[in-house]
Amino acid sequence: MGNPQTSNPDGYIHTRDADEYQRLRDQAAMWQGATEALLDRAGLGPGMTCLDVGSGPGSVMRLMADRVGASGHVTGLEIDGKLGAQALADLKAQGGAEFAHVEADMLQAAAVPGGPFDLTYCRLFLMHMQDPVAVLEKMLAWTKPGGVVAAQEFDFGAIAVEPLCPAMGEFNRLFEGVFRGHGRNLRAGRQLPAQFEAAGIGAPSGTLAEVKYIPLGQMAAMLIGVYQGLFASAAELGIADTARAEAFKRDMAEAAADGRYYCLTPILIGAWKRVP
Ligand SMILES: C[S@@+](CC[C@H](N)C(=O)[O-])C[C@H]1O[C@@H](n2cnc3c(N)ncnc32)[C@H](O)[C@@H]1O
Repeated sequence: MGNPQTSNPDGYIHTRDADEYQRLRDQAAMWQGATEALLDRAGLGPGMTCLDVGSGPGSVMRLMADRVGASGHVTGLEIDGKLGAQALADLKAQGGAEFAHVEADMLQAAAVPGGPFDLTYCRLFLMHMQDPVAVLEKMLAWTKPGGVVAAQEFDFGAIAVEPLCPAMGEFNRLFEGVFRGHGRNLRAGRQLPAQFEAAGIGAPSGTLAEVKYIPLGQMAAMLIGVYQGLFASAAELGIADTARAEAFKRDMAEAAADGRYYCLTPILIGAWKRVP
C-alpha cells in the first residue's frame, strides 16, 4: 500500500480509493449493532421513508432497508458519485426495499427527491462539517412533521492503547493534527445534544453510546487504514513523512501481533429526536 498523495477538491480529509472504501465497509460492520439499536429506538419500521446523509458505501442504507421493507424507501445522499453509485447497485442487487441515490453536496442541496422523510439520519458526517448546526437545520427541514432526526458521531476523547504503545502515539499525532489542522471535530459525539438544540430540533428524545475495548490485533488494520487514508491531508499541512509512515505501519503491525495490547475505540454516540 502506497501513501495517497492527493487530497480531495471538496476538502473531505480521507482519501477516496478502493482501500478507503473497504475500510468504510469494515468500519460499518464494526458498528452495525450500535446503528441497528439506534434505528430501532428511533422507531424505524415497515413502509417508512428514510434518508442517509453522507451515505458512503451504503451500509446504513442496508440496515434501514431491513426495517422499512419492500413498501419502504431508502435514499442515500452522497457527494462521492462513484461510491454512491456502487452502493446503489449493491443494494438494488440485494433488494428488500426501494432504493435511490442522490449525488450531491449536502450543503448545496435545497431539497431531496422523495422527501420529506420519516427519518433523516447521518453517521460519521457532522464531525467532518465546519458548521454541523447548519447541516442539522437542513436535516430538520427534510423531515416530516412527526418524523425523526437522528445522528451518530464518533467522540475521540478516550481513544487509547494500553499498555502505552509508541505506534499509537504516532497515530494520534497525525490523526489529531489533520483533524485540528483542517478544522474537523474530535468531540462531535458528545456535542450532539447541544447541536440539536442549536439547530431548533430540541433536546434529543434519547441518546445511545457504544465503545469497545478489544485486542489491538482486531483494530490495527483499521488504525493503519485511517492513517494511510489521511496521509494526503497530512501532507498538505506539512505533518506527513513517508519514512515515519512506514515505521508507523511496521510498529503497529508488530504491536498487533504481540498480543499484550488492548485498544479503547472511539465512542460512537447517537442522538435522535421525534420532531413535532
Ligand atoms: C466517514 S464517511 C461515513 C459514511 C457512512 N455514513 C458510514 O457511516 O459508513 C463520510 C461520508 O460523507 C461524504 N460527504 C462528505 N462531505 C459531504 C457533503 N458535503 N455532502 C454529501 N456527502 C458528503 C463522504 O464522501 C463520505 O462518504
